[in-house]
Amino acid sequence: MTFAFALRSRPLVVALAAASFAAASYAADIKIGAAEALSGPAGQYGQSIRNGFQLAVDEINAAGGVKGNKIAIQFEDEQGKKEQAIDVFKKLIFQDKVLMIFGPTLSNSAQAADPIAQAAKIVVFGTSNTADGITSIGDHVFRNSVTEADVLPETLRVAAKHANIKKVAVLYGNDDVFTKSGFDAFKKALDDLKIPVTTTETFAKGDVDFKAQLTKIKASNPDAIVLSALIAEGAPIMVQARQLGINLPFIGGNGMNSVKIFDLAKEKSDNLWVGSPWALGNQTKENQHFVVAYTQKYKAAPDQFGAQAYDAMYIASQAIGKIKLSGNLEADRKALRDALPAVTWTGATGAFKFRQAVDKSGKPAGFDAQQAAIVAVTKDGKYSIEK
Ligand code: ALA
Repeated sequence: MTFAFALRSRPLVVALAAASFAAASYAADIKIGAAEALSGPAGQYGQSIRNGFQLAVDEINAAGGVKGNKIAIQFEDEQGKKEQAIDVFKKLIFQDKVLMIFGPTLSNSAQAADPIAQAAKIVVFGTSNTADGITSIGDHVFRNSVTEADVLPETLRVAAKHANIKKVAVLYGNDDVFTKSGFDAFKKALDDLKIPVTTTETFAKGDVDFKAQLTKIKASNPDAIVLSALIAEGAPIMVQARQLGINLPFIGGNGMNSVKIFDLAKEKSDNLWVGSPWALGNQTKENQHFVVAYTQKYKAAPDQFGAQAYDAMYIASQAIGKIKLSGNLEADRKALRDALPAVTWTGATGAFKFRQAVDKSGKPAGFDAQQAAIVAVTKDGKYSIEK
């Protein structure tokens, strides 16, 4: 009787064992989604971001994971497009059931896709979104990318001091959330520094010929060109300016702070001023480790997009390490949201902590990065740090 019962119960025992294995395997693989522009014009950033995440995941897992659980990162290509970012967010949240999402690459896409994550109550963590207002979307929106409003005043101040800049021309993309936000931040910083503007010119995404705007800029006789552009347009702008004999300094925002400028603009990439918490030549031990590890793995130098992604993965893993994963996705997503704001971290980009943002009505919303900017200028395919 007992024996027969034991035999008949076997499927139940197997089922129970399978269920507990399923719960354990959920916790054993912490599934994180990364929706990034891996192709298209913004792929210049997305590929560095993917490398940064993968390097951090490999290091964390090689060191035993997060409390013994391995991180599994799932990359999805959002192509730098709003509609694609929305689709990919839905897939990661509802179909793949990830614990949290990194991305998207562009602020333009974040403004469209982050409300999906906010409504689904899952952390969305941008590592490259620098436009104003992204974290106002809601209290599940985080970023470790420092805003244009925080970085540009310092970039301008240092560039003006070294390059003797008394008046500037402004050139910006007027159909992108980030380039427009950068324009607003530049305008305010120029007002604050009492630097007059000789002319303001615009372009649109996908434009390839900027000679008309650059000719007007040249005629206005500025000491420098302030440029709020993504690199797909920013690189040809620099090349065409030099072709027109405009050898003035360019002062760029985050979109211009990519090592890809050296490939795209070659010898015409000199004299570009950019700011960010990260610089290749920053000699902290955390950054030296990152630069060596990245270069060994990818046989190419990192840029700040890779560095910010690398640090972001460590920041998230700190929060994951503080929570008790239950296997209940909703509860685990909430626990992670609640643990993340208190994380502090010193990584490749230096000392980091979050600063809570407010929404349009002034209520507490998501979380921005609080970090100091380093300013650098390009010369002969390299950045040199200036103070
Ligand atoms: N920093 C750029 C953006 O926010 C890449 O779109």
